[in-house]
Order: sequence, then C-alpha cells, then structure tokens
Amino acid sequence: MASLNAIAKKLVEPGKGILAADESEPTIAKRFAKIGLPSTEELRRDYREMLFRAREAMTSYISGVILTEETLLQHAADGTAFRAMLADCDAIPGIKVDKGTFPMPGDTGEKLTQGLDGLRERLARYASLGAGFAKWRGVITISATAPTRNNIRANAHALARYAILCQEAGIVPIVEPEVIGDGEPGDHSIDRCEEVTGETLEAVFQELRLAGVDLSGMLLKPNMVLPGTRAQQRAEVDEVARRTVDTMLRYVPAAVPGIAFLSGGQSDEEATAHLSAMNKIEGLPWRLTFSYGRALQNAALMLWKGRPENVKLAQAAFAHRAHMNALAALGQWQPELDKAA
Ligand code: 13P
Repeated sequence: MASLNAIAKKLVEPGKGILAADESEPTIAKRFAKIGLPSTEELRRDYREMLFRAREAMTSYISGVILTEETLLQHAADGTAFRAMLADCDAIPGIKVDKGTFPMPGDTGEKLTQGLDGLRERLARYASLGAGFAKWRGVITISATAPTRNNIRANAHALARYAILCQEAGIVPIVEPEVIGDGEPGDHSIDRCEEVTGETLEAVFQELRLAGVDLSGMLLKPNMVLPGTRAQQRAEVDEVARRTVDTMLRYVPAAVPGIAFLSGGQSDEEATAHLSAMNKIEGLPWRLTFSYGRALQNAALMLWKGRPENVKLAQAAFAHRAHMNALAALGQWQPELDKAA
C-alpha cells in the first residue's frame, strides 16, 4: 500500500488537480434541474461516464476524482466499472464520506456535518474497494450572528475525527472547512472572509494535532479569501491571490503537502485566474491546485443536456476547463487562452 504521503503528493502533482464529482443526490438534482433533467440513476451514470471518458482531460490534467458511494460502485453503460476506467487514466478514486449537513441547534442558521457514526467500518470497505482518499466538508456560515465559536469548534472537531479514522484505514483525508461565500446574506467583505477563514483554519489545525493526524498524509481543501457573492465591493484577482496565500501562510503548517481549493460558486474563469495568480507567488511551502466541482463541470453540463449526440462537445468543454486549471496550477494560465477557445 502506498504511503499516505505518497498518495497525497500524487494528488497534487505539478499541473494536475482533483475533479470533485461527488455531488450528493439533492445537489446533482439541482444541477440537472438547470438542464431540465430529472436525477435518475441512469442519467447520473451517463453524466459521470461522459466526464470519465474524456480521456485527454482525465489522463493529462486530473490526478484524482471525488466520487459518491453510488459512483464508486457503478458501471458504465457497457459494463466497465468506473473504478477500472479511472485506473486506466491513472486517476485516483476518492470518496465523499460525510452525510451532508443539518441545522445546528440554536438560531444562528449554522450547520453541522453528519456521518461519523459507523465511519470506521465504511472506510475499511472503501479502502478495500480501492479508494485512495476521502473528503469531508464542514460548512462555516458568515452572517450578522455567525459564525459562532461553538460552530467553528464543532466543525473542526468533526473534521479531525474523520481525518484520523481515514488515516487509520490507509486513506488520505481531504479536510474541507468551507467558509461559504455564496450563502445568505452573502454580502460580507473580503476582510470578514479573511478573518473567519483564519479563525477556522486555526481551529481545524488545533483539532487535527490533538487527534494525532499526520499532517504529511492529508490535503486541505479550503475556500479562497473572497468578498461574499453579493458584496458591493469586489476584489481584484491579485488581491484575492495575495490574501488567500497570506491566510494560508499564517495557519497552514508546511508539513501539509498540498492545498486543493474548492471553487465555491466563482465563475469558471475567476476560479482559474485566482489559482493561477496564487501560483505565481514564489516560495510557498505547499503545492496549490484545484479540487473544483462546479468550475470544472459547468460548461460541460450545459452542453451535454443528457443527449448522447452532445457527449463529444461536452467532453471538449470539460477538457478545455481542466486544461486551463492545470495551467493555473502551474501559474501559467493567460486570459487570452480562454478568449481564443
Ligand atoms: P465547488 O468547486 O463547486 O465549490 O465544489 C467543490 C466541492 O467538493 C464542495 O464540497
């Protein structure tokens, strides 16, 4: 079995990143509703098969794919196991193991993540099915009354309990504390996002240490430091890059091999531009790459529309986006490349 550190490093190898294709059933139903499709098992399979069969994208730009349990066990229309398809592209299969969020008791509108009960047994099973890494997402809300210290602490604690159980099973934990930028009211400043992201990361690493998590055998999946989606005052690309990197430098130990950002409702091009600008900053202790869901899939989903005749076009759109983000992971993306395409 490859060491946790070796798997983590492979996931963030230069010029590659992670495809987050682990939309839960309610989330994929929302995405499919945008193209007028119901969320059936067959359509979910067809959609993910379209992505995984985009060979150029998968082999050149994608190091790993986060799956749901359904997809981890699923087969393509011709009977090929998705796991075999990913292995063929040298993409590591990962598994979302949290069971979503529920409202935290109280009236602050915050959320807690569930899924710790029985997790040890589930992880042993996922490891035997070939999962190399896992993901757990904690959600931190920004509003007039949130986040509370209690919510940050509870989310950080759950992330640490999840992470140590993963390592025990030989699975690399992706630790995802997401400070939400596109929630309600979503009008917070970039200063506020920076402050809350810092507090959150501080609590997360404190809990990870207490739990005995090997920091060299995990990856962090944070939000970028951004103004809320509905904030009046926007931020330039370089400011987002600088503030995000500064926040990471203050709170993320150098022992962590890589940081794979979530896109969090940014436009496709913003998510790429921000990552590329961060990777232009020299002398960082960790690799910085993408673990995008929407910012990798938006264009492909819109073109696909559930129709077999659109598969090629959708795959080309996915390959383009993956290529742009792979360049961004090297700090080499140029806006002209997107305009030309
Ligand atoms: P987005 O990139 O769409 O934010 O999704 C990433 C993810 O995995 C959220 O948990």
